[in-house]
Order: sequence, then structure tokens, then C-alpha cells
Amino acid sequence: ALDEMVETLLAQMTLEEKIGQMNQVAGSRDTTGAPANTDIEDDVRQGRVGSVFNAFGVEFTRELQTQAVAHSRLGIPLLFGYDIIHGFKTIFPIPLAQAASWHLEGIERAARVMAREGAASGVHWTFAPMVDVARDPRWGRVMEGAGEDTHLTSQIARAQVRGIQGRAPGATDTLAACVKHYAAYGAVEAGREYNTVDLSEWRLRSIYLPPFLAALEEGCASVMTAFNTLNAIPATCHPLLLDQILRREWGFKGMVVTDYTAIMELERHGVAEDALEASRKAVNAGVDMDMQSGYFIKTLEELVRCGAVEEARIDEAVRRILWLKAALGLFEDPYRYADDEREAECLLSDAHRRAAREQATESMVLLKNEGNVLPLSDQHKKIALIGPLGNTPRLIGSWHGNGDHDDTVTLRDGIAQRLGNGATIMCADGVSNQIGDTDTSGIEAALELVRQADAVILALGEDEAFADEAASRTDIGLPGMQLELARRVLEAAGDTPVATVLFNGRPLTLTELDGMAPAILEAWWPGTEAGNAVADVLFGDVTPAGKLPMSFPRHVGQIPVYYNAFNTGRPKGVDPKYASKYLDSPNDSLYPFGFGLSYTTFEYSALKASCSEIGMNDTLEVSLTVTNTGKRQGIEVVQLYLQDVSASVVRPVRELKDFRRIELAPGACAHVRFHITPEMRSFLNAELETVQEPGRFHVQIGGDSTQGKPLEFHVTPHCA
Ligand code: IFM
Repeated sequence: ALDEMVETLLAQMTLEEKIGQMNQVAGSRDTTGAPANTDIEDDVRQGRVGSVFNAFGVEFTRELQTQAVAHSRLGIPLLFGYDIIHGFKTIFPIPLAQAASWHLEGIERAARVMAREGAASGVHWTFAPMVDVARDPRWGRVMEGAGEDTHLTSQIARAQVRGIQGRAPGATDTLAACVKHYAAYGAVEAGREYNTVDLSEWRLRSIYLPPFLAALEEGCASVMTAFNTLNAIPATCHPLLLDQILRREWGFKGMVVTDYTAIMELERHGVAEDALEASRKAVNAGVDMDMQSGYFIKTLEELVRCGAVEEARIDEAVRRILWLKAALGLFEDPYRYADDEREAECLLSDAHRRAAREQATESMVLLKNEGNVLPLSDQHKKIALIGPLGNTPRLIGSWHGNGDHDDTVTLRDGIAQRLGNGATIMCADGVSNQIGDTDTSGIEAALELVRQADAVILALGEDEAFADEAASRTDIGLPGMQLELARRVLEAAGDTPVATVLFNGRPLTLTELDGMAPAILEAWWPGTEAGNAVADVLFGDVTPAGKLPMSFPRHVGQIPVYYNAFNTGRPKGVDPKYASKYLDSPNDSLYPFGFGLSYTTFEYSALKASCSEIGMNDTLEVSLTVTNTGKRQGIEVVQLYLQDVSASVVRPVRELKDFRRIELAPGACAHVRFHITPEMRSFLNAELETVQEPGRFHVQIGGDSTQGKPLEFHVTPHCA
């Protein structure tokens, strides 16, 4: 029925109206509440706009929608898009932090909340999930993704799509998802934003593409192209990506939108002489909607008239756009998402805040805890809270939607709330966290407080603006003089316990801090409930269980450093001189992928396989016992890594294939079973075919990517 309705409408449309549907414009409000783009209402009435982004709020979206449905010739409703990346009004931890929870149900729940809030506020479509695998923490957008691993990113992508789109398509508490940025944006050279990407097709397909396919298999409604080039062709007009892989191989039927002015940028990339050529290349490659450049509206009519673009291609794009609008129920009721009552009742509700707090606690990673400094006792009565992140609401991170710093719980307030009236919290920034700031004049006053305290909390990290779009860094240490502050505070503290809490949007180089600080808690940017969630973990109400989704380098010169690397022909340990190594640093990361401590301890034992030899179609069962050997209840993420020891192409030293998040009481143990399927043993061969090859495999199970003794098994060409 939807198809029929779309075809009937399409048949009534002029070419100009069709092109109008392919045009998306920004529609934010200015401070008076009027549209910031003054032409927008007129353009909508003329049928020159198919979608508006950055417009939200029941009142505003209703106003704009009325222009479309009541005053344009065909009354086609607008589609409202908005970046709801980790929260609309209630802000959850940044996506990289969410990934550190390895808690797929929790991630799905967070996405449900953000969709519910956005949808109640008139939004139909979000530009999420962002599934760019990234191995370079200098790139500021690592905060938006799930880190360096393809399997983890794919699992999270699925959970996010389920959360955003819900289980009942078109329900008014769901949004249409848009997986982005297609593709390989996370591989920009030197981590510099918008930079060149040059990858073998093997690596592209093995590492960078699977999360996109995972999102689409989960039913993701749309795809956003990337800003970068891929092997000398911009992603926004890339025939291999957009036509061959997306449409022909994966059979994707939904719509493709550009990232912002990416069509216009084809000229700057140097693949288009002018707007006509840029539009022609993008539309013929398969782009359906132009975000913000205005090139489609300016050029497509002429391109069709002169035969450079077939009208059938325009029809195909418009069909996809109308289909999405129909699937969202907008033709039945164009206002069905904008609901004053729901908007008032659900935005920043207590339940949503509770969910955000819970997820923030799950996302934190305990990097170090020498002498069990953490958890702090709540008997401490005089706390010195030192550092530029201690008393600021700038803890929601970039891409924080409609979230407000005024609604954010600072660390100071979270601790005060936790410790109640009897405690004194003495705060001093000491230094700023601004890049290049060398001012240390505030340190002395901070040390005065440290000397009076019975516990010290050092709150350090990046400003929210430092891990974002267009926020690459060459030095990913603590900005400004924070390391100096830490050194002086730790010296002054003597025997007083000092716990360091980090707020940041990317892996940082923490070698020096790790050398001097006894306890380090990675809190990322935890969102609206930041201060409460950090206090929950610092004072032991919640035992940290997060595991790093991205390696933390020792030194920026190691980048890219990631766990699933190749062995090389001269790995370290074979020949002391002629080895793949650095003269001035170990090869490995400071904190590896999958790493994270707990307030309790876990022991892995009795690893065994159901047999040592299996056939190509067989599934191998592997099991082990995990015991909580500490004194507290805790959650452990049990990780399974696989290595195909010898194959027709080189396989990584280990690759994450599965994981379980288990909760254990003190002294309790769990028998954990994994199933190693033929699919988990498969890979792309040199001909880019997915194959499984017989031979020797190692399976390694542990609490991070370096743990676990390899267990060997063989896959034989015939049934075992
Ligand atoms: O969705 C974003 C994208 O990730 C970066 N450029 C702008 C888009 C719309 O805001």
C-alpha cells in the first residue's frame, strides 16, 4: 500500500517538486524563536524543501510543517532531522564511553530514551548511529563512535538501531536512524579531520564496512555519506561505495543523504569543475538528498533537461524519500510526532535521568588502583576537589543535542549530594584545561586545600570542545598545565589518598600520570548526571566494570596502535636488533583494548574446548570458569579472541569475536560457554571473498585483549 501511495504521488509531481524533495535545509530558530533561515517558510511553500534539519520543538516543527502540508501545492510533509547522538535533552555518556560499558542492552535503552525525547519534540530522523571504526585517537570524532574494533562496533551499531527505531516501526516514540559516515571517515590520515583516506579494499571491507552492514541488517532507514576521499574519490560520489557495495551487494533500499555541504565540497576536493559537475557526480553515484549545499536545487533541473542525469534517477531518489515519510506515518498525520504533552512529560524526566546515571556508571573504566585507594570511604569529611573539571557542568561532551549545561550535575554537586551535610568540599581549579595555557599561578592555592583535606580528588581532562568534529589534536596528553598540577598535588598530599578522575572524549597519553597517580578512573564525558555517577563509583556504591573500547597509547608517536595488528615477519622477541620495535618505547599500548579494573578481582580457570579438531561446518564449544575472588559484587566482561594462525592472507594476532558481561557475587563463580562458529572463523581472502580455511586456530579468553593463555584447535577440511 505504501508503494502504491508513493507511486501515485510521484506521478503528480513536477520535476521541480521532485528536486525539492531532495533538498534538505537547516531550520534552526534564532533567539526570538523565528526561523534563522528567513527564506525557509517560503521555500517550503514553493515545494523546494523535502527535509529540514536542526528544527525541533513541538511549536516550531508544527509551524514549519503547516507551511508544507497546508500551503504547498501537493502538501507533502517535511521530514525533520536532528543530530541526536547521545541524548536529546537528557544527555547520556558520549558514545565512546557507552561502548566502554560493553552493555548492549544498556546502549539500546539509552538510544530508546534519546529517540523518545527527540520524537516527542517533533523530530523524525536522527543522524545516528555513527559507526566509524577509528584507530587514531588524534581524530576528535572518536568520541562519537565505538572505538577501534569492528566486532564491538557492529554489535553496538545493531543495539543503537534497535533503540532508535524501536521494535515497532513508525511508533511515535521512535525515530528513523541514519548510519554514518559512509565510509572509512575514521581512517583519516594522521587523525586530521576531513583528511585523505587511502585504504586497500581488503582493509576497507574487513575493518571499516562491517558495522555499516550490521546497522542496515538491523533495518536502519538511511545512510549518510562521509566528507573524506577514499582512494582518491570523495565518498559522496563514490561508485564503489554507493552503487556497487551499498545497492548491489547489500541491496539497501533506503535513502542516502550527504554529510552537510559534501556535494559542494566536491569542487574543493578537485573532482568537479563547478556546481553542475558536483551535483551530477553525486546524484549519479546514488546520493538521494543534499544536505545544505543547495546544489541539487540549483542544478538538477538543468542536468535532467540536458540529459546528464536521467529523470529515472531523480524518481528513484524521490521514491526513497517519500517512502521514508510514508513509513513514518507522516502522510496520515504530519504532526503525529509533535506532542506537547509528551514533550513536557518525558524530556529530562526522572526516569531518563536515572537511566543516564546508570549508564554513566557502567561506562567508567578503572585504569589504576594501587593500594586500593578506591573506593573512597564516605567517612571522609574534608575533600579537596582539585582541577579544572571539578566544578564545571562541561561534562556532557560534544554533540550534546538540545542538552543543557544548566541541567548537568557537576562533580562538586554530585559528591556533596553523596556525602551529605557533614562533609566539606573545598574546590580549586589550580590550572585550566585549555590547550597551550601555561598559567600555574593557581596551583599554590589548590595545594593549601590539599594540605587541609582528608581525601583528594583530582578532576582532570579535556574541554568538551577538544573531541568533536574539526577537533583533532597532535598532542593527546592532558591539555595545559594539568600534569604539573597533578605532580604538585600528589607531592603535597603525602599519605592522604588521592583519586584522579579523567573527563575526556578520546584515549589520552597518560604515561606520566600513570607513573605518579595511584588511582585513575576514566569517566569520559558522562552526560547530564555526570557528578552523581562519578560519586557513585568513587564512593563504591557502584563497582566499575567498564573496559576500554580503544587502546590508550603510551606516546603519540605509536599511533596508530591497536590490538588486532599483524605479527610482522620480525616480531619483538625474535631478534633483539632487527625486530619490529621502537628504540624509545615498548610497542604495546599503555592500557590495552578491553582493559579495565574492578574493585573486586576475577580469576579465569578450566578453559577447555569440546574437542581439538573440528570440520569446516562445525561449531566448537569452548568453556571456562570465572570466579569473583574479591570481596565485592562485580561485573566482568569476558572476552573471546581468535587467531587463525596460518591462512592464505595474514590474519591479526587476535580478533575479538564474542563477549559476555557477567555479574558475580563475592566468591561466586560462573561457567561461561562460547560457541566458535564457522562465521567467526571466516575472513576475506585476497580475492575479497569471504572464506574459511582449514588449519590451526588459537582461542584466547580473558578480561582484556592481552589476557588468557591461547588454546589451540584445528579445523580440518572434512568432518572430524
Ligand atoms: O550529522 C552531522 C555530521 O555528523 C557532521 N556534519 C553535520 C551533520 C549534520 O549536523
